[in-house]
Amino acid sequence: MKALYICDEKEEWQHIRSILNRFFSRLELICVLSGEDAIEYLSYEGPFVMILIEASLRSDHPSELTKKLLPLTGEKPFIFVGAKVHINDRVDEDLYMRSEMNEIVFRPIETNALIGKVQKCLDWAKNEEFEKSIEELEKDELLPMKLRSFYLFNKLPYDVFVELTSTKYVKVISAGKKYLHSDINAYAKKRVKHLYLRKNEYLKFLEDSIEALMIQYESNKSNSNKVMANQIRSALVIQQYVRSVGVTENITKLVDRTILASRNVTLEHKRFKSILKVFPTDKLDLAEQAILTMYLAESMLMVLSWASETSRKKLGLASLLYDSMLEDDELYKIHSLEDPNIEMFTEEQQESYRDHPLRAATIAANFTGYPEADFIIAQHHEKPKGEGFPNKLTTNKLSAHSCIFILANNFVIRYAEQKNRKGAIIDIFRDMKAIYNQGNFKDPIMALQKSII
Ligand SMILES: [Fe+2]
Repeated sequence: MKALYICDEKEEWQHIRSILNRFFSRLELICVLSGEDAIEYLSYEGPFVMILIEASLRSDHPSELTKKLLPLTGEKPFIFVGAKVHINDRVDEDLYMRSEMNEIVFRPIETNALIGKVQKCLDWAKNEEFEKSIEELEKDELLPMKLRSFYLFNKLPYDVFVELTSTKYVKVISAGKKYLHSDINAYAKKRVKHLYLRKNEYLKFLEDSIEALMIQYESNKSNSNKVMANQIRSALVIQQYVRSVGVTENITKLVDRTILASRNVTLEHKRFKSILKVFPTDKLDLAEQAILTMYLAESMLMVLSWASETSRKKLGLASLLYDSMLEDDELYKIHSLEDPNIEMFTEEQQESYRDHPLRAATIAANFTGYPEADFIIAQHHEKPKGEGFPNKLTTNKLSAHSCIFILANNFVIRYAEQKNRKGAIIDIFRDMKAIYNQGNFKDPIMALQKSII
């Protein structure tokens, strides 16, 4: 941020600058000797957040100069600095008495007075900027994109908004201007979950994300941490894409690549336990749970010597899509219809929860080259004795692949909740063994044990 100070006493430049530097580290003070220089700077060095004019200026009359500068500055705060006599004689009262944004600072300067007035001008400018960026938009003109998706880029060709009320949105990323990932972090800390894109630009964002992810897969092949981070971002894009757009050739390419990418990581780490040590588990949100489920299912396939290309692909797609139809971010934390927390959701949300395995299965069926992934997804909430949903299937009705998937996913979900507790892995396994060590689950539970312990 820059402020412009017009004063023909050079000693004063340093004085004002040192006060402002102490209190406003991000404010740069540009000093000029005359109105002519000021016009030059305003034309070529802007934008300036405020203008300070010395009332005793010899080259120009301060009031006349202000009127001359206004067309260049637009509506900006002016601070007139000077002895009372100069202010009274040379600055029109209209310019500061009746203006809510202009200020006067009397000489000799009191630091607190100067700081207070500068702060007031900064607040005014900030508020003005904020007001200007508020747009009244109908909710159906925009679509929500998960906040995390914005880490993929640092510049976008379209505007991005944050929701203020259901009809007011503030532009937080301007088309073509760089943005900082630290700003995205700041929204995450404020518990903002989505930023909004205009409907016609939403699909473009997802398509651009696919392109960026495909490039990153190629350039980071040998760095397994980067590959995993890329897979998590891909899961996020895939889940949003299938929910809002459906299955297309482009998203199929990203799914193929995301599943294939596990191969090098698995070869490098050999055992799931060592992948778990380096996997980013601080949040373990849905996208991270999806990728971790994929690694565990693959490890179990290898223990059972079933790791064919087809098995890997069907469990891979199941991992990416199983909860993709849950619109509400909190719903994926519900694990059964008996979970008392389900009561916190509306009847419509509960209905969508009951349906989500079948809706995700329908999506999976639209992918070519992934046979039976839809059955696995449809069955991911079933339990050995038929207490699961939606079809209350018992163990002998579940395929071996479904049993692997149910166990892998179940472990990851439980691990996400208990990961910081010592001994969690052993306890989770004991609990799971008590429930699942029967019928078609017997071999997969042994494979789970060998993978995690
Ligand atoms: Fe689910």
